[in-house]
Amino acid sequence: MKKINIGLLGLGNVGTGVYSIFQTNHDKISLSAQKELSIKKILVNNLNKDREVSVSPDTLTTSAKDLFNDPEIDIIVELLGGIHPAYDYIKEALKAKKHVVTANKAVIATYGRELIQIAIDNHVALRYEASVGGGIPIINTLSKPLSVNHFEEMIGIVNGTTNYILTQMTDYGLDYDEVLKAAQDKGFAEADPTSDVEGEDAAYKLSILISTAFGMEVPPASIPREGITKISKDDIEYASQFGYKIKLLATAKKSDDHLEFHVHPTLVPNTHPLASVSNEFNALFLKGNAVDELMLYGKGAGSLPTGSAVVGDIVEIAKIIGTNFDPTISIPENSGNLKPSGEGISKYYIHFRVEDKPGALGIISTAFGNNGISIETVMQRSRGEKYVPVIYILHDCTREQLNSTFDDISKDNTVKEVRSILRVEEY
Ligand SMILES: NC(=O)c1ccc[n+]([C@@H]2O[C@H](COP(=O)([O-])OP(=O)(O)OC[C@H]3O[C@@H](n4cnc5c(N)ncnc54)[C@H](OP(=O)(O)O)[C@@H]3O)[C@@H](O)[C@H]2O)c1
Repeated sequence: MKKINIGLLGLGNVGTGVYSIFQTNHDKISLSAQKELSIKKILVNNLNKDREVSVSPDTLTTSAKDLFNDPEIDIIVELLGGIHPAYDYIKEALKAKKHVVTANKAVIATYGRELIQIAIDNHVALRYEASVGGGIPIINTLSKPLSVNHFEEMIGIVNGTTNYILTQMTDYGLDYDEVLKAAQDKGFAEADPTSDVEGEDAAYKLSILISTAFGMEVPPASIPREGITKISKDDIEYASQFGYKIKLLATAKKSDDHLEFHVHPTLVPNTHPLASVSNEFNALFLKGNAVDELMLYGKGAGSLPTGSAVVGDIVEIAKIIGTNFDPTISIPENSGNLKPSGEGISKYYIHFRVEDKPGALGIISTAFGNNGISIETVMQRSRGEKYVPVIYILHDCTREQLNSTFDDISKDNTVKEVRSILRVEEY
């Protein structure tokens, strides 16, 4: 059997998962690849760190050159995280004509097309299944069996940390800060959770999904996004009374020749398949013009689930090494000539704090009507206080119509504040 050598960049969470899958499933991996695969060198920061896997000290190095200059290493697996030096190392590896596997959403979302072109120019493969949805085979499924579809919409719960926080707030009636602290203590949230809770991580993944499914290049920074830090347990409770759960959704929807895309906390009806995706689980809900509705569901992070996707990519590359198959993937094309658009229209949930006096609801409802917005439901909660919560669910409207309504309402001091503005998904 031909031998394939692998160089790992990183032996952290995912690197450790990859290493242990090689130890426990070695026979299955070699059988599947029809080659003998082994990890030859591993780049780390700290040679003396205690590791969860037992690795011979001469396998570890702190010099990336030891991997790039080794002619026996065929595949480089980048599991460092962050943009630099990960991006630079991927580029260097591809130029050294080594195949590359990465789990790095930040690099692929930001530099994916450039790196794919470098891989094509050097006749090597670049694969990144684990960059979206951890262990769920999303990229491969979109680009192979589902590639015959024109997609109409794609809605993902693609960040496990925020889904865990929102699920705990929903199930136990807790505040955001309490749940975040518990999640950090249990290792479900990073010490600095900003990228997760502010929706940046989801925007990286949405950018990769849009490129893969719609062939459109959308820089992550241009994706309108809002995180979950302002979601209160009250909003979760009111949403539940209307029959919804609040989820952080990464959405791309086709509307004529435009593609709307955004990351927002959104009310999802309990009947929608995404409403049952809880805790650290991820899912991608799709509508294709041939396959119709479909949902991919599984663990979106974690050492072994993510390692499974990485090893799957390694095996796919190993299968074609030494054959006549072209190992490169093509740059996805925007075949429908879709144009990027803003956030589009949506149903909305609005939570006001309103003075508890006769006629207050009339003032707000008239302002909505004057701005062409029709109301689906309204609920007022009386607590015997001066200001009470009033919740509206509105039919489809634009953000501009909403802003104009809020301007009108602000001319009267009946409404103390607009506490929450959340999108509402339909099903
Ligand atoms: N964690 C997940 O569940 C998950 C899921 C999907 C995708 N990903 C992606 O997978 C990648 C890796 O994540 P992770 O959670 O495994 O990260 P991690 O636990 O922080 O591990 C990073 C590893 O890279 C090494 N490293 C970092 N910078 C280095 C440098 N400049 N030179 C040499 N070694 C360096 C570290 O060495 P030391 O060990 O010596 O410190 C460590 O072994 C990221 O792109 C992440 O977004 C992670």
